Amino acid sequence: MLTNGLGQLLLEQAPLSNRVFDPFSGSASVVWFLAEKTNCQIVAGDLQKYSTDLANALLLRNAPLTDDHINALENWVTLAKTFHETIKIDLEFKKTKKCVFENRRTAKSSCFNLTNAYGGYYFSVDQALKIDSLLYFLPEHEPIKSIAITGLIEAASQCVASPGHTAQPFQPDGNGLISIMEAWKRDPFHYVERKITDLVKRHANRIGIAKTSNAIDLLDMLEEGDLVFLDPPYSGVHYSRFYHVLETISRNSWVDVSGTGRYPDPSKRPISDFSKRGTSIKAFDDLLNKISSKKAKAIITFPSGDCSNALSGDLVKTVSKKYFKVKRDLIKSHFSTMGGNTSNRPARVESNELVLLLEPK
Ligand SMILES: C[S@@+](CC[C@H](N)C(=O)[O-])C[C@H]1O[C@@H](n2cnc3c(N)ncnc32)[C@H](O)[C@@H]1O
Repeated sequence: MLTNGLGQLLLEQAPLSNRVFDPFSGSASVVWFLAEKTNCQIVAGDLQKYSTDLANALLLRNAPLTDDHINALENWVTLAKTFHETIKIDLEFKKTKKCVFENRRTAKSSCFNLTNAYGGYYFSVDQALKIDSLLYFLPEHEPIKSIAITGLIEAASQCVASPGHTAQPFQPDGNGLISIMEAWKRDPFHYVERKITDLVKRHANRIGIAKTSNAIDLLDMLEEGDLVFLDPPYSGVHYSRFYHVLETISRNSWVDVSGTGRYPDPSKRPISDFSKRGTSIKAFDDLLNKISSKKAKAIITFPSGDCSNALSGDLVKTVSKKYFKVKRDLIKSHFSTMGGNTSNRPARVESNELVLLLEPK
């Protein structure tokens, strides 16, 4: 969507605003886009901590990383590689169901968090132990902590044996087995190093703020003259179900998981009023009411049709008109893989997306 009109609208409106808020920042792609392309201060938030880490990888700095910090990150990876050599377990790597089950059996008795929770499912035992080694020596202080976690999130996303997100791992049958082996061949250390090399040169133009927070609470900081970018949930399934592996990495503490998706218990995952059919409309109304009461502007992007959380493009427009002047009303098309399809493969579905520019009445 950033290359399809939304980015242009944001770049046009951001310089006319004091700060830009992104209270549903997710992958932080909009945060990074605005942080690097405008001089505005960016205030990002999301219920999921991993999203805050991604945002902070750029928002905490307004200059490239110093040599001392770069050395610290390089030492971190070297230490983890050495440690991995001492804890690694030699398992035969074969394109067979037996190999997958042997990975699962071995992982079950591991005392390392990620290996115990996801080894043999989303990652091979060897990949999981590499990620655990990196987590074991994770830098404690910013600005390098969030860069290190961002490297790990990138590595996990590239290596994970699941379709597009982590709602369910591939199962070792037919094409699923081929997909597992393709994913398990990838080396997490390679992706971590590649991401760090990219990030150390990059930075925000102005230091920003990222918080793990409910959107409505983040907007307590909002003031007249600010712009809010809104990309709220459109799914009736909590996002924490799709991204629990990334959240486990970011939180770096022990999780007990169960079921085919290897989820932590629902009580341990962030839940959102926006993803519940009974509360989503009120949550959205409260959000727009708050933004309008602060006399701030907003840009909303939302699927134009009916969504599984009971919100719809029409409803988003109706609530927007209640509180704001709708200055721009665009429809753009894009591809989405969110949710997959029934065969557990990523479904790249073309969908129409509503983009609204809202100004105070
Ligand atoms: C549609 S996604 C946003 C995607 C994002 N713009 C990107 O580029 O990746 C919605 C996000 O809202 C977050 N979320 C859901 N409910 C929330 C709430 N009440 N407050 C803050 N964030 C929430 C989810 O964790 C998810 O990351």
